[in-house]
Order: sequence, then structure tokens, then C-alpha cells
Amino acid sequence: MKKHTVTITGAAGNIAYSLIFRILSGNIFKDESKIQIKLLDIPEAQEILKGVKYEIEDCAFERLDSIIITSDYETAFGDSDFILLVGAKPRTKGMQRADLLLDNANIFKEQGKVIGQSCKKSSKVIVVGNPANTNALIINKHTPNLPSENITSLMKLDQNRAKSIFSSKIKAPIEKIKKLIVWGNHSATQYPDLSNVSVQDSNDFSSLYDSSWISETFIPRVQNRGAEIIEFRGKSSAASAASAVYDHLKIIVNGSKDWESMGIISNNPFNISSEVFFSYPLHITNDSIKIIDSVHVSEFSRNYLKQTETELIKERDIIKDLL
Ligand code: NAD
Ligand code: LMR
Repeated sequence: MKKHTVTITGAAGNIAYSLIFRILSGNIFKDESKIQIKLLDIPEAQEILKGVKYEIEDCAFERLDSIIITSDYETAFGDSDFILLVGAKPRTKGMQRADLLLDNANIFKEQGKVIGQSCKKSSKVIVVGNPANTNALIINKHTPNLPSENITSLMKLDQNRAKSIFSSKIKAPIEKIKKLIVWGNHSATQYPDLSNVSVQDSNDFSSLYDSSWISETFIPRVQNRGAEIIEFRGKSSAASAASAVYDHLKIIVNGSKDWESMGIISNNPFNISSEVFFSYPLHITNDSIKIIDSVHVSEFSRNYLKQTETELIKERDIIKDLL
């Protein structure tokens, strides 16, 4: 029987506590295959991981093949098909995600080195730990044997937030909304873009909002949603983040009929630097990720793209010694 191995780092943390159970109960893999789950966390968190392992067992998931808990990078990454890099410090009230750069960058450097030495060439790496785009850049630099297109950073949470806020505004069901993309960095400079959006079975939806709603409400609301959650919850989003990682992984495995957004490194499309992980409009199938480079970028959009690119270049400059 076919088996997929999924590694989750930060497995004793908040996001993982939701993510592991979504993956094992969900339907990412359409075949009858089983899932081996490898859970990595620091040595001090191994007791917690033991508890998580028991809880997984207690769910009696039919899809579960086996569980490995470990603090050893090689055990976690070797032979894995999907490596979900969640383990990193989260921000707290008043911080920007970039404030985590120096704390978290070393984790990604060290893990990148071991991933580079031990993973399969076909492994897919998804970076979630913040600041996710620049951490993905660090991973990419330390995994010269892994094709760059196998590394993506999470923007699905932003895309889901944007869809949900837009759906409430125009009172249309989420599944009818297509081509709503988010460009750039997973940060307060990201650009959720309504210029190409279509709503199935609705021709007059654009009369329900105007340009000031887009620039004064919609864009800042999506950009700052993570901070808003921290303000209310006292800690950063976890269940919604896990749900977005689940969606992202499902799209990597199966493809998507809609336009998607993920952080990738690419060759200067839309005049964006090829030295940063940037979220573009993407067409994704089960074996390729392609930028939709025919998308028209207006002057209004171009300004947002520049701001978020500038921030990513600054982040890269801060950690350049680790590259
Ligand atoms: P958490 O503090 O609850 O858990 C983090 C876990 O990572 C802890 O168990 C910790 O021990 C572990 N860890 C630390 N160093 C590690 C290492 N070297 N190897 C393996 N594990 C290690 O945090 P959380 O709420 O689960 O969030 C995790 C990260 O995800 C944070 O950086 C957060 O900002 C980020 N995040 C990203 C998005 C996104 O959309 N990209 C969304 C939400 C949260
Ligand atoms: C989010 O967007 O919710 C996460 O990146 C956590 C954060 O720090 O905002």
C-alpha cells in the first residue's frame, strides 16, 4: 500500500495541535494511501510530543500508518515527502513579523542544511514559521540539491481572509469567488488584489463596493488581520493558520482550478526581484506551479507591489550573513 510521509516541525505548538488532526482526518490524498507522520520539536518538548502521539492514536485514524516523534533533524527530514516547517517563535502584541527574523532565522538555516543533505529530491517544503517568505529564502539557499520550485511559503491564510471579508461585503458564497489573489510578503505590506476577481452567477457585484472601500477598508483589514487576532486572542492565529496549511498542502498535491497565491522564488516576473520569495498569482497542477504572467497590473497595484517587494529586500538584507 502507498504511503506518504509528512513531517511537521513545531509539533508541540499551537498550529500543529490543529494541523496534525486536520491532515489525518482530511482528504488530501485521494488514493487509498496511508500517512506516516513525523513530529519534530526541541528536546524540551518531547514529553508534550508523547502526549500528542497518544492523542493521535486515540483518534483511531484509518489513514494513519505510523507516528515518529523526535528532536533529531535527520530523522525528521530524511525520506519525507512533505516537510511542513511550522516550528518557530510567534510574535506577540505590538510586534511586526519581521521582528522575529533574527530569532527564527537560525532555526531555518540549521534545518535547511539538514533538509539539503537528507531529503528526497522530490520532497515538497512548505514554510509557515514567520517571517515565512524570508525563512523560505534561507531554506532555499541551504538546499542546493532541492529544486527551488519545491519550496513554497504560506499565503493561503491571507487569501482565505481576503475571500472571507470580500464574501461578506458582497454577500456571495465563498465558493463563487474566484481569482482573488494576494501578492508579496506575508506581512502588513501584502497586497490583496480585487482587480481580477470574478463572482460566479453575479455580473453586477462590483456595484456593491467602490475604490475607497478597497483602499481604506479591504486592503488594511486583510493586511492587519494577524495583528487583530493577536490583540483579541492574546496569541497568534493557530486554527485558521492550520486550516490554511491544510489547504496549501492539498493544492500542492492535487492542483487547483482557481488562481492561487504562494510565496515562491522566480525569475523576475512583473519586474519583481528574483532574490526574494514573493507571492504571485499562480496556476497550480499536481506537478507544476506556474505564474499567471498575463495578469494586468495597474498603476494602483504597481505601487503596492513595490512596497511589499522593498520590505522583502530589506528582510533579506538583514539576514544576508545567513544566506
Ligand atoms: P508555538 O509557539 O505555539 O509553537 C512553536 C513550536 O515550535 C514550539 O513547540 C517550539 O518548541 C517549536 N520549536 C522551536 N524551535 C524549534 C526547532 N528548532 N525545531 C522544531 N521545533 C521548534 O507557535 P505557533 O502558534 O504554532 O506558530 C508557529 C509559527 O508559525 C510562528 O512563527 C508563527 O508566527 C507562524 N505563523 C505563520 C502563519 C503564516 O500564515 N505564515 C500563520 C500563523 C502563525
Ligand atoms: C497570522 O497572519 O495570523 C500569522 O502570521 C501570525 C501573526 O504573527 O500575525
